Amino acid sequence: MALDVALDIGTSHTRLATAQRGVMFNEPTLVAIDTNSGDVVEVGHNALDMVGRTPRHVVVFRPLAQGATVDFDVTARLIAGLFDRAGVSKLSRARVVMSVPSLATAIERRALRQAAIQAGAREVSLIEAPIAAAIGLGLPVQDPVGSAVTVLGAGASEAALISLGGIVTSSARRQGGNDVDAAIASLLRLRQGVVVSPATLEMLKMNLASALGRTRGTAEVITARTVDRGELVETEVSAELVNAALHDVVTATVRMIQDCLGDAPPDLSQDVSARGLTMVGGHALLSDFAELIANSTGVEVTVAPNPDEVIIEGLQMCLEEMSSLHSLLRSADR
Ligand SMILES: Nc1ncnc2c1ncn2[C@@H]1O[C@H](COP(=O)(O)OP(=O)(O)OP(=O)(O)O)[C@@H](O)[C@H]1O
Ligand SMILES: [Mg+2]
Repeated sequence: MALDVALDIGTSHTRLATAQRGVMFNEPTLVAIDTNSGDVVEVGHNALDMVGRTPRHVVVFRPLAQGATVDFDVTARLIAGLFDRAGVSKLSRARVVMSVPSLATAIERRALRQAAIQAGAREVSLIEAPIAAAIGLGLPVQDPVGSAVTVLGAGASEAALISLGGIVTSSARRQGGNDVDAAIASLLRLRQGVVVSPATLEMLKMNLASALGRTRGTAEVITARTVDRGELVETEVSAELVNAALHDVVTATVRMIQDCLGDAPPDLSQDVSARGLTMVGGHALLSDFAELIANSTGVEVTVAPNPDEVIIEGLQMCLEEMSSLHSLLRSADR
């Protein structure tokens, strides 16, 4: 039997699910490639472990930036590596359902679709991320009721109002959690003259950031490298620095959500007032973000449990529908 596969390829993390086995992969969007043979050596966590430790002929690639494929061929190899991990052989010609940010251009959508076909998929369906999220959240997507969803990822952010199976209003930016990390990095360089690893930047954000500028824990001591002499030093980073760094990204996100809700027809606005807005995506976990958004929009805001898996769960539900429809069709096909 042909295997159906759901894929959510994000800027920082990629998830794969099958209808039968649920979410089988949720790991960094990284692929290590042997540049002599072109073979995929590792994907995900295993590729991350190889960063900085590879021989010259193995290169670890991150094929996405700001929610879009920046390297078609590497993305195709990543997908092939994922199919391999999931036990989907090239011969099984899988049907694939993939999410795409609503701001993706026609060229970006085509690149994603073609990358999956090059990796061995037979048929590729693309679903816009806010719709997949709403399905994963169990919202009444097909009904004449407004459902407000905000997807906050590492490289893309989008707010959408959904009714009758489609997006009524939306607003999106090519900005996300990665941009907070980048802003912390540039303030550290500017104020303290040090450079730190991506993992340290993320740790500082998780332990010290507050979208409301509250001081949670006052400081963290980290190991960093000085910009001028390249020496390793211990330095203290304050919550104030982290909160100053995230200000621009957070403000722009609030404005994006206000724009989306502000464009809504009156009946749907009433639905949102009554039913609230749900945030998904890893960046939605930024401390006090939901509270800030609720304060600035006057709408009740909830962060989904396991927000980074809502989209893949929605895609998996689409697969299940697809297979049951196919078996219905087959049962009449005698
Ligand atoms: N507890 C947390 N607090 C703050 N930020 C977090 C937390 N957990 C994860 N993040 C951030 O969430 C982002 C990853 O979210 P997610 O996995 O949804 O992105 P993605 O799907 O890879 O990217 P995109 O959909 O934008 O292409 C990262 O920027 C990460 O730092
Ligand atoms: Mg994502």
